[in-house]
Amino acid sequence: MIFRQLFERESSTYTYLIGCEHSQQAVLIDTVKSEVPKYLQLLQELGLKLAYALDTHTHADHITGAGALRDATGCTTLLGEEAGSSCVSQGLQDGDVISIGQLQLKAIYTPGHTDDSYSYLLDDAGQTYLFSGDTLLIRGTGRTDFQNGNARDQYHSLFNKLLALPDQTLVYPGHDYKGWTLSSIGEEKAHNPRLQAKDINAYVELMSNLKLPNPQMMDIAVPANRACGKD
Ligand SMILES: [Fe+2]
Repeated sequence: MIFRQLFERESSTYTYLIGCEHSQQAVLIDTVKSEVPKYLQLLQELGLKLAYALDTHTHADHITGAGALRDATGCTTLLGEEAGSSCVSQGLQDGDVISIGQLQLKAIYTPGHTDDSYSYLLDDAGQTYLFSGDTLLIRGTGRTDFQNGNARDQYHSLFNKLLALPDQTLVYPGHDYKGWTLSSIGEEKAHNPRLQAKDINAYVELMSNLKLPNPQMMDIAVPANRACGKD
């Protein structure tokens, strides 16, 4: 497997490039529009053909590069069907499997941060990778106070779906604001303060008291992302 974790500074977004070395097919997870030239250069340098540009959810803090990548490469764009985006090539459902050559990405519906949030699981060479979007962050969880976010749904997504994965599963989040790049399910279970909530009501209480300002780009980014990043 060819794997790159890419970082966009302004929104602290992680973008993941996953490629199959046998078929030269690749997928990009959570792209940022301003970085598209960089992705295209990297794909070319690594000899990869982009098959899919996939978003874990409709982002409020940056504009997706999916539409621009589709224009440039002819790739298929994917987003959860709950997003109701008419411009994506294909809407995803829980359990859908995306094949990238010999690699397979499995979609897990993990609502809570937004109602269209998905996480993606991939097995390669005895290691399991979880791309957790903004559902599970390193020592945090995605806010649940807009875009049909729901702390109860997020609790179920976290405790019944993601934390049920084996402890050694690697966790690659959608953002990090402190410079952390990688964690594991076991590490987050033990050390993520939000996952120490004693029950669902305690978690909902915790999430309702965060009092975070809205993302600066929210009013522009959400409608643009419903249109695959087109202005
Ligand atoms: Fe988000």
